Amino acid sequence: MQVERGEATAACICEQGVKAIFIRHDVTDESGWVAALDLTIKQFGGLDIFVNNAAIEQTCMIADVKFADVQKLIAINVTGMIIGHKHAIRAMRPGGPAGNGGSIINLSSVSGLIGTPALGVYTASKGAVRLFSKSAAIECDRLGYGIRVNSIYPGLVDTDMGNKLIDDFVGLGVIMDRADAQQQMLAGYPIGRTGVPVDIANAALFLASDLSSWIAGTEIVVDGGMTST
Ligand SMILES: NC(=O)c1ccc[n+]([C@@H]2O[C@H](COP(=O)([O-])OP(=O)(O)OC[C@H]3O[C@@H](n4cnc5c(N)ncnc54)[C@H](O)[C@@H]3O)[C@@H](O)[C@H]2O)c1
Repeated sequence: MQVERGEATAACICEQGVKAIFIRHDVTDESGWVAALDLTIKQFGGLDIFVNNAAIEQTCMIADVKFADVQKLIAINVTGMIIGHKHAIRAMRPGGPAGNGGSIINLSSVSGLIGTPALGVYTASKGAVRLFSKSAAIECDRLGYGIRVNSIYPGLVDTDMGNKLIDDFVGLGVIMDRADAQQQMLAGYPIGRTGVPVDIANAALFLASDLSSWIAGTEIVVDGGMTST
């Protein structure tokens, strides 16, 4: 977890005159979810938007995966996400401590749509996010909770994870070197560039807002056209 960066981001938002708090929380800790959501509702008087963003990636050939590494990735990317929904839905549904419904947004990946060598475990987790999101959406709709659940599918984005991925591919010999990687990556993106975090944030903003009030269980692919080629 990146506590200093989280605190700095919250401070930066507060400087703009908007209230923000950072809460340190491990998504694999169920009691931590309860505490984080309670504090959020107390501090802000409700819970309208819930984004499942935390994840890790592992780059490894399937023949070499380690049991404990698979368990760790699935615990964060899948189990943590599911348990997060459990407590967010309890809070946001009618009768819950927040009680006004809202929008849940899950970060999957293009790796939840297409296969990639050396990313098998990660793709398994992101494929799980995709179908879980659809089930959660239908369940919340049918139960009349007023909670919309949707998911986002980023291509390669310039973050710690995106940059590590390129280095890992070079290390495993999937691509030759960083220069080769840049060329291969760019060739795959018809728009002519890979992503930056605000590309993904804008999609989340749309799904969080009432502009998407009739959208549930859907997938927004934000990948510069990569999966359309
Ligand atoms: N960067 C990309 O190219 C890319 C592409 C497709 C999808 N995504 C997805 O977008 C989301 C954000 O990724 P990113 O690129 O910002 O990655 P990142 O590694 O830069 O950030 C991930 C964040 O998750 C947090 N985290 C990890 N384990 C945690 C845990 N157990 N509990 C709480 N927090 C934990 C980390 O501290 C970090 O702040 C992820 O779901 C990722 O799978 C990223």
